[in-house]
Amino acid sequence: MGLKKIGLFIFTAVFCLNAGYMLFFGRETFQVKPSAAHSQKYVYHFVLISEEIDNEYWRLVEKGAKAEAAKRHIHLDYLGPKQANNEEQLTFIDKAIAGKVDGIMTQGVSNEKFNYLVNKSVQKGIPLLTVDTDAPESERQVYVGSDNYRAGKLAGEELVRNTRGRQKVGIVTGRLDASNQQLRVKGFEDVLAKHKRLEVVGIQESNITKSGALQATYELLKNDPDITAFFGTSALDGIGISQVTSQYQSKKKPFIISFDTLPGTMALIRAEQINSTVGQYPYQMGEMAVRTLLSLKKGKLPQPLQYTKTDIIKKTKPAMLWGDSR
Ligand code: BGC
Repeated sequence: MGLKKIGLFIFTAVFCLNAGYMLFFGRETFQVKPSAAHSQKYVYHFVLISEEIDNEYWRLVEKGAKAEAAKRHIHLDYLGPKQANNEEQLTFIDKAIAGKVDGIMTQGVSNEKFNYLVNKSVQKGIPLLTVDTDAPESERQVYVGSDNYRAGKLAGEELVRNTRGRQKVGIVTGRLDASNQQLRVKGFEDVLAKHKRLEVVGIQESNITKSGALQATYELLKNDPDITAFFGTSALDGIGISQVTSQYQSKKKPFIISFDTLPGTMALIRAEQINSTVGQYPYQMGEMAVRTLLSLKKGKLPQPLQYTKTDIIKKTKPAMLWGDSR
């Protein structure tokens, strides 16, 4: 073999290796495995994109979506940032569009780039719906999830019903720029505004983590040690709040309303460390999102607002088990 030929051989080998590497890892990053989707005779390939991949709450949405997808022969990929991050979340949506999936379910994000991506998805014939958090200003076809404003009002009414006299209230919220959190706070504050005795004295962000909720609670108490009630508006906030207040030497145990029914929260409800929580039904959200996306694929136009249930759960009124009729 002449030198030229050897050179060409090495070049071709390196090129092929490189291309193979890119193909493999490019696909791994997006986790789309079209071969799997086709070889196992899946009818569609859907993608579910969450706010944070390993968040316990989102894992329940995934579980419901995967169960429904399996029943209907749909290949479902579940994706999301390691830690809540809008930019990363939007990149997943963009990659799903580029990967030509058959449908996208994603948490709604309230910004221009999200609206642009939704438009791009719809233009390319890929139906897209929001789940858990809506973005009504985008062209998303449907929203599946809680009525977050109503959920916030439920929390406010619970506080009104269960307290007497003047109350100073601290709010721990997941993320100040997430519209579901904003609606919950708004619903809560609208109820409190009708009662002079109830005053919101501060609001802090937890970044949807338990450690963030601990810090947010410390911050609230540092600014006003006389807080008598707390409202945590995302799934891990109540746990963080109660951990701080159970150690804090306050005159009176504060009244705590949390969000969601994750096992940690339910244990604290049973231990009377959290008074009440607003129940959402993430598993059902996942199931309903897949069913709705499938009907969009079939050319049907479902109602744009598909609300799942929200209710107040407390020790005397425990959450129903999955599968109980609701
Ligand atoms: C919210 C989700 C959020 C989660 C964080 C839930 O209450 O509905 O949007 O990602 O809390 O733990």
